[in-house]
Amino acid sequence: MAKLPIFATERLILREVTEADATAYEKNFVDYEIISQLASVVPWPYPPGGVLDFIRHQIVPRQGNDRWVWGIFLKEQPSEIIGVVDLWRTGTPENRGFWLGRRYWGKGIMTEAVFPIMDYAFDVLGFEKLCFSNAVGNKRSRRVKEKTGAQFLRIEPGTFVSASYTEREIWELTRDRWREFKSRQT
Ligand SMILES: CC(C)(COP(=O)(O)OP(=O)(O)OC[C@H]1O[C@@H](n2cnc3c(N)ncnc32)[C@H](O)[C@@H]1OP(=O)(O)O)[C@@H](O)C(=O)NCCC(=O)NCCS
Repeated sequence: MAKLPIFATERLILREVTEADATAYEKNFVDYEIISQLASVVPWPYPPGGVLDFIRHQIVPRQGNDRWVWGIFLKEQPSEIIGVVDLWRTGTPENRGFWLGRRYWGKGIMTEAVFPIMDYAFDVLGFEKLCFSNAVGNKRSRRVKEKTGAQFLRIEPGTFVSASYTEREIWELTRDRWREFKSRQT
């Protein structure tokens, strides 16, 4: 039985990630333009077989327990995972990560994906607030946060795969702020 609900938005299906997604995940994810933006815990060069290992050991056993990882699929191409939204309970300090294959950037896809997941986090998982983070200079990620109601808090030191990033932005989204933001959208 699926441990995660499936969400459908205008253009997307969001569903759990399984080992069967490893090949497409690797194709769309293993790209320095993506991985360079991520926290320095992510290895680069990315090891062969690393995606399957990550799905098998970091996603599947934790899925629906303390971690919720949705794959992003286009309705018009529903068998290929093109990105991920990842939520986790214990903030590091952030509680969410995301990536999208480069050819899909700039079309509003991540913004669209984030909406049902924020609803689920606040309404079903019971988060009262979520913390987000991005490298200072990662304008796309910052923009997704701005477009989905998050509040910028501060800048602090941070280490990323790209050593050119040395600071991170910390953002917060509370349940009340999310509800208020959504009520202004309609
Ligand atoms: C961050 C990421 C998920 C964004 O996904 P996306 O689907 O392209 O995001 P959206 O299209 O919803 O929004 C991107 C916004 O950034 C804007 N943007 C794009 N390039 C930009 C730039 N160079 N400077 C400023 N804004 C930029 C877009 O115009 C868009 O805003 P708009 O809708 O107001 O025009 C994607 O770029 C990605 O996977 N990046 C690499 C991994 C990553 O950074 N993950 C997050 C780590 S914190």
